[in-house]
Order: sequence, then C-alpha cells, then structure tokens
Amino acid sequence: MTDRDQSMPPMSPSLVDGDGDIEVSLRPKNLYDFIGQPRVREQLELVLSGAKQRGAAPDHILLSGPPGLGKTSLAMIIAAEMGTSLRLTSGPALERAGDLAAMLSNLVEGDVLFIDEIHRISRPAEEMLYLAMEDFRVDVVVGKGPGATSIPLEVSPFTLVGATTRSGALTGPLRDRFGFTAHMDFYEPGELQRILMRSARILGVELENDASHEIARRSRGTPRIANRLLRRVRDYAEVRSDGIVTMDIARAALRVYDVDQLGLDRLDRAVLQSLVRSFNGGPVGAATLAVAVGEEPATVEEVCEPYLVRAGMLARTPRGRIATAAAWEHLGLVPPADTVASGITVRAREPHDDE
Ligand SMILES: Nc1ncnc2c1ncn2[C@@H]1O[C@H](COP(=O)(O)OP(=O)(O)OP(=O)(O)O)[C@@H](O)[C@H]1O
Ligand SMILES: [Mg+2]
Repeated sequence: MTDRDQSMPPMSPSLVDGDGDIEVSLRPKNLYDFIGQPRVREQLELVLSGAKQRGAAPDHILLSGPPGLGKTSLAMIIAAEMGTSLRLTSGPALERAGDLAAMLSNLVEGDVLFIDEIHRISRPAEEMLYLAMEDFRVDVVVGKGPGATSIPLEVSPFTLVGATTRSGALTGPLRDRFGFTAHMDFYEPGELQRILMRSARILGVELENDASHEIARRSRGTPRIANRLLRRVRDYAEVRSDGIVTMDIARAALRVYDVDQLGLDRLDRAVLQSLVRSFNGGPVGAATLAVAVGEEPATVEEVCEPYLVRAGMLARTPRGRIATAAAWEHLGLVPPADTVASGITVRAREPHDDE
C-alpha cells in the first residue's frame, strides 16, 4: 500500500486499504489470472516473452494509471513471470540518493526493482537512477565540498518497474529511460464482473450473477473498489440475511455504504456538489476545488477527477475544472444553458496522459 493511501482522510473510504490479508489473497498471481486490460496484457506478454527468449532482463517498465487498477499486482506478476524476485520500495522512501544506492547494490542479476509512486522520488535519487537504468552502475559521492570523491559501483542488470498515478509529473529524462509504458485505463463493467466472480470464488461467497453485475457497475471502473464493495456486501448478506448475495442484498448494502447509482462515493459527490453549487459549474482551479472539499489537491486530482472525467461529469480545461451537464443532472439540478454536454468532448479518454 502506498503512503498516499494512508494519508487519505476517512472521507474517501473506498480507496483506503483495509482487510489487508484478503487484499493479498485476491491479487492475481500471473498474467493469465490478470483480468481485463487486454492491450496492456498483450504488450507486456510480448515484452516478457521477448526477454525470456533472449535470456536477458526485460526493459524497464513504467505502469501508469489511477489508483487501484492493478499496478502493484502487475509488478509482482512481472517478477513471477520472469522467475525472479521483486524488491519493493517507493518514491517517497527514496529521499536520499544513499537510500537508493543501498537498494541498488543489493540487487541480484535479473531482479525486478519496483518503485511505487515513482513521480515522488527526490531529485538526487532520480539522477542516480538515470545512470543505474542505463549503464547499471551508480556513482556514490563520499564526503562534502572540494574533498568529495565519487566512487563508481557496479549494479547487477535488473528491471526497473515504476508505478505512477501521474505520469505527467515524471521528468522527461526519467520517462525516456523506460523501454515500455503501460497505460492502465478504467475497467469495463464486464471485466469487473469477472474479477468479482473470481474474488467471490476465492472468498467462498455465494454471489448471484445480477448482483455481481450491479456491484461491477458501481465500482468506479476499479478492481480494488469492486473487491472492497464485495466484502462490504458480504458483511451485509451475512448479518442481515442468509449470506447469499442477491441483487436486493447488493442494492441495500450499497445504499448503506453511500455508494450511489453511478458508483460515486462521498468525496466524488462532494467535488461535484462544490463545483456546481459554490462555483456555479466552474471553471475553477484544482487547488481551490480541493480546499473547498477539505481534501489534499493530489487526492482530488489523482483519485477523484480521473473517474469523474471518464464518467463525463467533469472536464479539465486550461481555465480550470468545469461541471458538465451530466454532473448537474446527476445531482438532480438543471444545468445552465451554456453548460458543456459531456467532458469527453473536451478531454480525451486517458486522463493520465498530459497532466
Ligand atoms: N486485473 C485484475 N484482475 C483481478 N484483480 C485485480 C486486477 N487488478 C487489480 N486487482 C485487484 O485490485 C487490488 C488492487 O490492485 P493493485 O494494488 O495492484 O492496484 P494499484 O494500481 O497498485 O493501486 P495503487 O495505485 O493504489 O497502489 C488487488 O489486490 C487485486 O485484488
Ligand atoms: Mg499499488
């Protein structure tokens, strides 16, 4: 779990990891179990098979996309498919270049080094990473001032897998050093339904077909949320009924947990409410909007907005965020005459590309 998750206030419970052990047991262990994202899966399969055939470590891989879409799972799968081990760290943990040097010098040939939230890596660590990625060596600087010397250190050939919710925040030189970038997009309801069926099987939950469809539809295109809703619906089914998750049970449970018809949670709705009521539909700057809902700007931008954009409720324009007609309607309000019909016309499908 990332530290951003921990800093997330209770307002957005749908993305905070609970049920830790269950989360692990639900992780797909290989590419075959990894449901959905057909394009990413095919691309990755080629990258990994090519490397296997050549008997070399695969190129460095960047996984980019909103939280909970399976970036960490894919990193683990990459190591598993290559039959190597995974070393795990995160951008914020690599505050000093020395932290990274220690990590790199411990790598064994072929290891996968996974850096979560790689856009938050410190500048000195990032510069060290350039050399390590390209030439498999690092220069460790010893001492300070004129007397400082740099000692070159060999690093075993490894594969860096970086994950980021904001690929636009990566510097050009870092992005260029990845041989392959997987853009993860929100899942289709049908894919989420298959994920739910698999999870239900693993958890031993009796989940009826139409109920799985309903939960999938309201999971914000996100497997982590689908799995979380399944667990909450199961609680409801076990406590208030006979444990079988039927359509009626699913609906009643989702009502209790404040998940609306479109799967928007409280924070999503707060953002829309604020945009529509306080700013008359916008445009309003992202930072102002975040303050208005009492959230970190990063949370609003990386957790909330991508899905609201995808759902056609919010548009990101150069002048700021605006609510589309669909947003007004979703809140039961009549949009002003000049409102944009849908965010999709203003902004393309992949919200993570040019942030
Ligand atoms: N394609 C998939 N098939 C089945 N389950 C999936 C898939 N993708 C994700 N999951 C489930 O969703 C959970 C969250 O996935 P994961 O932790 O890999 O997301 P993430 O992209 O790393 O999120 P974050 O950005 O918050 O770190 C996993 O525990 C797994 O159960
Ligand atoms: Mg992760």
